[in-house]
Amino acid sequence: MREEAASIARATRRLLERERALTGGELVAAGIATATRKGLKLPELPAIAVGTVAAPASAPSVPAALSAPGQAASAAPAMPAFAPAPPAAAAAPPAPAAPRRPIASLSKTPAKPPAILPEVILPAFTEPVNASAFDGNRDAIHVAALPVLEQVASEANACTKCELCKTRTKAVPGIGSARSGIVFVGEAPGADEDLRGEPFVGRAGELLTSMIAAMHTKNLIPGVPLDRENVYIVNVLKCRPPENRNPLPHEIQQCSPYLIRQLEALQPRVICCLGKFAAELLLDPKANGLTKTTTLASMRGKTYRWRGAKLIVTYHPAYCLRSPSAKRPVWEDLQRLAQEYLDV
Ligand code: URA
Repeated sequence: MREEAASIARATRRLLERERALTGGELVAAGIATATRKGLKLPELPAIAVGTVAAPASAPSVPAALSAPGQAASAAPAMPAFAPAPPAAAAAPPAPAAPRRPIASLSKTPAKPPAILPEVILPAFTEPVNASAFDGNRDAIHVAALPVLEQVASEANACTKCELCKTRTKAVPGIGSARSGIVFVGEAPGADEDLRGEPFVGRAGELLTSMIAAMHTKNLIPGVPLDRENVYIVNVLKCRPPENRNPLPHEIQQCSPYLIRQLEALQPRVICCLGKFAAELLLDPKANGLTKTTTLASMRGKTYRWRGAKLIVTYHPAYCLRSPSAKRPVWEDLQRLAQEYLDV
């Protein structure tokens, strides 16, 4: 009898400790998962159900190195110049960039009749999110990251771990800094990058650069200058695959430790995966419910985690060049990135 009581007490303590480790959004997700398992009906939530985003009530102070004069917050940024306006007769545009409301207030006022939610697939996040430029210590992260980034770059420049070293002109380790805490991860260098030793400098690179510039001019993250120097731009592979073919599994396996070391040093707040190679490398398929047939389109629109970083997935700029209509969803994804960045 005494043993039984002790075992119940132990189980209760474990449960309380587990719940204490969860954030508000995770508690909601855990509650939903439990209710769903028990077959309870819940009010329908919007697709963005895990992780709430709230713009800061007042403009937080920014480290001197990051502050840019004359930036003021603006709501619902319109489509920037990099994305063409939709044709007049086009179907209704995708959801506007209104700031997301906290889950608590959404779930109190169900707009639709109750429905059973699918099992929540995103894992519970127990690691704290890495610092933003508002937290005051990104400068320290930036300084501490420099020697690691230099070391990785010199190793990548001399790397002979796979056959790509025989055909490359220059390795392309990465560019930018840890200052903002935003990292864009592409696929592999193309011809222009191979010649210059710098990522995203060809046509796709010009588009990426103008997307980052649009995030800045539309003031998506007020007070944090966004350009190629303040974000970090990097690829899954450091060397160009011949004829721009897709990276091969053994190349990714050999090369990805460089990227992982870079990310560990950069301690990003948000990682933006450009295309499926970056997403498939950085997302744990099991924890995120991904299979071999999961499309990039269905990976979009969610916020994942890679250690202490939030992670979002969007279309590769090269795909946007081939399919200009993809620029609109990319702009939505960049707004999600900014909202997640601002969320505490
Ligand atoms: N595409 C990429 O994925 N990376 C580059 O650096 C250039 C094009």
